[in-house]
Amino acid sequence: MSEQSRLLKALAREPVDTTPVWLMRQAGRYLPEYRRLRERAGSFLALCQDPPTACEITLQPLARFDLDAAILFSDILTIPASMGLGLHFVAGEGPHFEHPVRTPAAIDALRRPAIESDLAFVPEAVRLTKRELAGRKPLIGFAGSPWTLATYMVEGGPSKIYRHVKALAYDEPAALHRLLTLLADTTADYLNAQIRAGADAVQIFDTWGGTLSTTAFETFSLAYIRRIIDQLDPAPVIVFTKGGGGWLESLADSGADALGLDQTLSMGAARARVGERVALQGNADPALLYARPAAIRREVAAIIDSFGPHAGHVFNLGHGVTPEVEPDRVAALVDAVHEFGTG
Ligand code: CP3
Repeated sequence: MSEQSRLLKALAREPVDTTPVWLMRQAGRYLPEYRRLRERAGSFLALCQDPPTACEITLQPLARFDLDAAILFSDILTIPASMGLGLHFVAGEGPHFEHPVRTPAAIDALRRPAIESDLAFVPEAVRLTKRELAGRKPLIGFAGSPWTLATYMVEGGPSKIYRHVKALAYDEPAALHRLLTLLADTTADYLNAQIRAGADAVQIFDTWGGTLSTTAFETFSLAYIRRIIDQLDPAPVIVFTKGGGGWLESLADSGADALGLDQTLSMGAARARVGERVALQGNADPALLYARPAAIRREVAAIIDSFGPHAGHVFNLGHGVTPEVEPDRVAALVDAVHEFGTG
């Protein structure tokens, strides 16, 4: 049963028989069986919005690899998509919003989505997937951090410089706080719907928190991650702030059970800084999966060795699996984690 799973034990910093492993973006374009479904569906959002398809894609990597958890196939942008901003995924360019939210008036015109009507396909996909998993492996639900969602909503798509959202933070902080409050409260409802549908743990993806100054991170990202966690039903919470290595201590005080680390810190140094307060998840460079199995094995052993013989390590990458990866490299990594893993 998933209650006994390595993942949930490690998140609770309890001893395990070997280190558990799952990978961000473990389902997706590097898998030919995903690409086939994607071609048939026509659009990425159509895959997310059809629960049987989302369930099938969620399970695809578990059929190939000895992963210790499934992560729901969906996207962090389902929430802004449900607010009528006209989201499209443009091939090779990523997400694009037809109606970005750049002014206080546009922020105040936003409507809070109701999960049970506007986003019912997400908890429904959780329920279907839990039924298929039948307790064999735990299921992770997820959402984006309010700051990360706001970057896409204000910029209108991916950005390198965050011109509009950062200008808003300096020029109209009260309006940005209203947007982040709306996103945090909606996200708490959204994660609670996933937990009530059976998600065994949830991860908050703060992918763009690391682009902020220390003060701005506390004000515009961490405060709203806390606001979400404070409203959640009981379930282990993993917070992944990419580029957040400078702020581990304050992240460890956010109420999270575990922190996801990118590859820029050593696991050992990170563990020394947070002690027993939280479990740690990470942190192989995603580019390790371009290397041959011998190098993958060496690096996995080094990361596990760096963490040391303590409870509370969940192995993962420092960011998601990329589309160029050959699936057999993922198998080599997963098997090496179990071989070199510790309790
Ligand atoms: O981890 C998993 O396997 C679950 C699925 C998952 C997806 N997106 C599927 C996806 C998860 C957890 C996400 C989270 C997500 N989405 C994040 C946070 C984590 C991260 O990667 O930084 C962000 C920032 C997004 C927003 C998003 N969605 C972008 C920027 C893109 C385009 C970039 C790209 O890789 O194409 C997406 C699309 C997306 N989300 C795809 C998948 C499988 C590719 C869509 C396709 O098939 O064309």
